[in-house]
Amino acid sequence: MNAPLPKNRSAPAFDVARIREDFPILKLKVHDQPLVYLDNAATSQMPQQVIDRLVRYQTTQHANIHRAVHYLSETATAEYADARRKLQKFIHAREDREVIFTSGTTDSINLVMHAYGRKFIGAGDEIILTTLEHHSNIVPWQMLAEERGAKIRVVPINDDGELLIDEYEKLFNEHTRFVGVTHVSNALGSINPVKRMIAFAHERGVPVLVDGAQAAPHMPIDVVDLDCDFYAFSGHKQCGPTGIGILYGKAALLERMQPFKGGGDMILSVTFEKTTYSTIPHKFEAGTPPIAAAIGFGAAVDYLSAIGMDRIAAHELELLNHATEQMQGLSGVRIVGNARSKAAVLSFVIDGIHPHDVGTLLNQEGVAVRTGHHCAQPVMQRYGIPATSRASFAFYNSLSEVDALIAGIRKVQKVFA
Ligand code: ALA
Repeated sequence: MNAPLPKNRSAPAFDVARIREDFPILKLKVHDQPLVYLDNAATSQMPQQVIDRLVRYQTTQHANIHRAVHYLSETATAEYADARRKLQKFIHAREDREVIFTSGTTDSINLVMHAYGRKFIGAGDEIILTTLEHHSNIVPWQMLAEERGAKIRVVPINDDGELLIDEYEKLFNEHTRFVGVTHVSNALGSINPVKRMIAFAHERGVPVLVDGAQAAPHMPIDVVDLDCDFYAFSGHKQCGPTGIGILYGKAALLERMQPFKGGGDMILSVTFEKTTYSTIPHKFEAGTPPIAAAIGFGAAVDYLSAIGMDRIAAHELELLNHATEQMQGLSGVRIVGNARSKAAVLSFVIDGIHPHDVGTLLNQEGVAVRTGHHCAQPVMQRYGIPATSRASFAFYNSLSEVDALIAGIRKVQKVFA
């Protein structure tokens, strides 16, 4: 009889110590303590592989793209196009022309607001958003609503921070023209049932934009399976540089949209009488794009894919579960947001201590968390609090770092006792 095959022969154990070696910044000491970086929802750190890719680009490949026949321009153009294909593959989009490079999630959402919203949303129309949105998926739509006389409807949440899907469905009527929903709440970590929400909207002919800024770094994304019309996320939250992000859009929709910014590289021909626009994605990438950042973003998703987004999600869930369990054992500490399905975010408040003081004292222990409203003031208003402290994890965090956070919180409580 054959011996049973060892399980997961092709997937080696998740070796967080080995992964941490790739991140030079994680070796830093802060206030003589090893840095415990738990502010990954704000921005993540960069591995040496991405740093090296940026150096190689700047030292051997840099020129402007799409503009000249010389060696460097052709090289940079090819590498930029290759970065687009890497992002296409990362989100399983059907075509690379459905991936537009932007400066980040906020820029991507503003692009949709200007290029889709200003063309297709008018007076009396309704836009559905959710209580869990980050300001970047609220303010652009408010600007549009104000300009066009449209109305914003908001999906409420329960006390655990979960969207009330029945209420979402009730918001639809003959005036509904657009839905914007975050895949993962940056303030609470709730993972929203976006696939189901998209299907419901599509049955009523309504397109959906998903803000994936807090999802794409933490789980596999398949835009075809989700069937979203738009999906936006940033490079700097997933090991890439700042100043780069993407907007995925279905080709048929992007083609019907008007350009957002005018300038070089987005045109076919220009006369003072008339300009004709280029095809997608170029129609939406006016001027010299962030070439180096896009190439760095491509290297970042290569790095993440080599580890495996499934394995990243599994490790982060272990961190979250461990942190949740430890925090539930601390008296005087309350977790804000207890959705059944959560990504690697843990928001909390401590009785009698302002989150700003919590953050300041944790910093003395080398522990970096974000404190404040997390650019999601409606979430804070829903809970009647001005702010929380937020620990947000990445795949390079370890269980012992979670323990350092918990020890830090105990120390904060002692100082204030
Ligand atoms: N959106 C970022 C955060 O949640 C900045 O911290």
